[in-house]
Amino acid sequence: MAIRHFLTLTDLSPEELQAIVDRAIEMKALHRQGGAGEPFRNKVLGMIFEKSSTRTRVSFEAGMAQLGGSSLFLSPRDTQLGRGEPIEDSARVISRMVDIVMIRTFGHNVVERFAAHSQVPVINALTDTFHPCQLLADIMTYQEHRGSPRGKVVAWVGDGNNMCNSYINAARMCDFTLHIACPEGYEPDEDVLAAAGDRVKIFRNPKDAVSGTDWVATDVWASMGQETEQKEREKAFKGYLVDHPLMAHANKDAIFMHCLPAHRDEEVSSELLEDESISVVWDEAENRLHAQKALMEFLLESH
Ligand code: CP
Ligand code: NVA
Repeated sequence: MAIRHFLTLTDLSPEELQAIVDRAIEMKALHRQGGAGEPFRNKVLGMIFEKSSTRTRVSFEAGMAQLGGSSLFLSPRDTQLGRGEPIEDSARVISRMVDIVMIRTFGHNVVERFAAHSQVPVINALTDTFHPCQLLADIMTYQEHRGSPRGKVVAWVGDGNNMCNSYINAARMCDFTLHIACPEGYEPDEDVLAAAGDRVKIFRNPKDAVSGTDWVATDVWASMGQETEQKEREKAFKGYLVDHPLMAHANKDAIFMHCLPAHRDEEVSSELLEDESISVVWDEAENRLHAQKALMEFLLESH
């Protein structure tokens, strides 16, 4: 049987995605009741981080520990990856020693090349192009607060980045409409957009994009690796702040998400981020833990 990887949301069927989200909600409840046993006993997760992380590292490590497994933090600074050992060789070696691998890196082709040479499931923990683990948590969070996102209208305000591309894939998988407000030159990936068809629409004015939506999300204007573009991006994204006046154009019960870390009063106002009647960002962050436990269980079982 072919090894299952999770490099983008579309590596799952819509039914598999729904089952993982439902299981994540169950895992969260079991955790609150004292635990979900030790299904990952003797299992080892290899975690390769070529970029910084708080949520992703803590959620994967804590998730493995909670279910009886263990994890290895591998950074290019202390492995041969940083000294130029090819990703293909690293994949062949590491995957003979661990049961599952997650990678956070720059080029999406790095996770694809690793997966092509891996004997065990590989999870994309963020590349320049996609951040599918975050979308598992975001979909779970919407379902917990408002029920199924199917048929809803979602707004993405800001950069057409890795998160935006994953929202486009989520629109396909969960069957919702997605409005993207981004400045010219900061559009999402053309192929990802084309594959989603007319359920995704691009806007230039955030107000138009947010009007009549049920769920509004944003992210930083300069992602990891784009730090030198910060000033130029601040100019390009002027007017793209998500705040209470912008949220007033959304539907009455609309909720706000941000994958975090946030730049307060840049892409989102402090007031909105802290307004827990609209902003569900802390639940969203916590749900990374349970969504990834459900994902790893699915991948380990299908292996
Ligand atoms: N949202 C997210 O992936 O956060 P980290 O960069 O802290 O892992
Ligand atoms: N778009 C951001 C997401 C961080 C979780 C980045 O890639 O830096």
